[in-house]
Amino acid sequence: MSQRAFPDGFVWGAATSSYQIEGAMDVDGRGPSIWDTFSRTPGMVRDGDTGDVAADHYHRWAEDVAIMGELGLGAYRFSIAWPRILPTGRGTVNQPGLDFYDRLVDGLLAAGIDPFVTLYHWDLPQALEDEGGWPVRSTAEAFADYTGIVADRLGDRVRHWTTLNEPWVTAGHGYLTGEHAPGRRSTADAVAASHHLLLAHGLAVDAIRAAVPHALVGIVLNLEAKHPASPSLLDLEAASLEHALMGRWYLDPIAGLGYPEDGVVAYAWDQAEVADGDLTVIARPLDFLGINYYTRQIVRHPDSAAEPTVRPGTRVTGMGWEVYPAGLTDALEWAWRRSGIGAIYVTENGAAYPVDPAEPERDPDRVAFLHDHLVAAADAMDRGVPLRGYFAWSLLDNFEWAHGYAHRFGIVHVDFDTLERRIRDSGRYWSAVAASGLVEPPGYDDPAG
Ligand code: FCB
Repeated sequence: MSQRAFPDGFVWGAATSSYQIEGAMDVDGRGPSIWDTFSRTPGMVRDGDTGDVAADHYHRWAEDVAIMGELGLGAYRFSIAWPRILPTGRGTVNQPGLDFYDRLVDGLLAAGIDPFVTLYHWDLPQALEDEGGWPVRSTAEAFADYTGIVADRLGDRVRHWTTLNEPWVTAGHGYLTGEHAPGRRSTADAVAASHHLLLAHGLAVDAIRAAVPHALVGIVLNLEAKHPASPSLLDLEAASLEHALMGRWYLDPIAGLGYPEDGVVAYAWDQAEVADGDLTVIARPLDFLGINYYTRQIVRHPDSAAEPTVRPGTRVTGMGWEVYPAGLTDALEWAWRRSGIGAIYVTENGAAYPVDPAEPERDPDRVAFLHDHLVAAADAMDRGVPLRGYFAWSLLDNFEWAHGYAHRFGIVHVDFDTLERRIRDSGRYWSAVAASGLVEPPGYDDPAG
């Protein structure tokens, strides 16, 4: 563990998403989203949990803003629930939905907290899924219209806009493996979804810029370091293909490099969905790139007979994800060099760990995790990466998708019976880093070493 200094003006924030924290699923005209449907489908979410109440942020947003103020956060990344704005995905605007985000933005600004808006963090209006969802092109067009509506309303106060959160997860978990809403399982649908998500992104960039000339616009991608299980060529090739299907599948078209050829071949994709001009729209220049980083993946080719390289002492989080801070340095450097985008943010990083019910605010493992990844981010800056800010995932314990409430990522603990919030040690640690710009080693024995 070592001490590192971040520059003045570096943005310290925390992130959440609408379905994971808001609750109030049928309040003030909100329409159903695919996650309402999916979470009600037996067997899809652990313990049958839903986001019906979640952290009840819709009603408690002012308290949450006050907590952010107490932590001294400079920025808050949150997402807009499309079904609050357009209950059936398109058509009549639901003013009370817009009013909610209007109040939230005003509250943040009054507390000196810069709002970073994400327009899509996975809660597609169910009506659009009923019309075909992301595998159909009209969903991308509907997204651009929705984006214009939100940008018109909030653009006088919001500077930082991101279109999509982790399109790889939307397409892959939603349409390929079916582990996320809407739970479909088809390679063809997933690949079509990925293209329409990227198209939606590009169209939304134009919609934001048309409504808000001074907007700073970006997208949030999740990256993992993909490492071969052994130095064998089979494993090397398998790792490279995983990278093509995750990181490069999204970053390359955005960077104007088109879809990775090895990925196109692996999917046997005829690219029928790609219309003339789409790749130009997808490659609109961006003001910043957001990277979400949690872990790396060790990749083994199914036919590989090579001895896997042994890795002693692997640390894992409560999700079973390997703690691998060096992968953050690597991901940031790679994304910056490949895209040439001039401002990079860590838009999510954090970890779930089991909670001691007697002391839910004590979270030494999370403090250590954050410390180690902050050092890794500082290493990336030493390599030249123009890293401008860092958002902890997550501000609050929340609905962790198919895991329901079983895993907690918050730097603030939420009691899901009483909805009481309590700042964790990691929240205090984050607050101290935000105040000083100094990443100090945590002041206790780290059991994880
Ligand atoms: C990311 C998601 C976020 C949260 C974290 C743990 O992939 O963007 O909503 O679930 O993982």
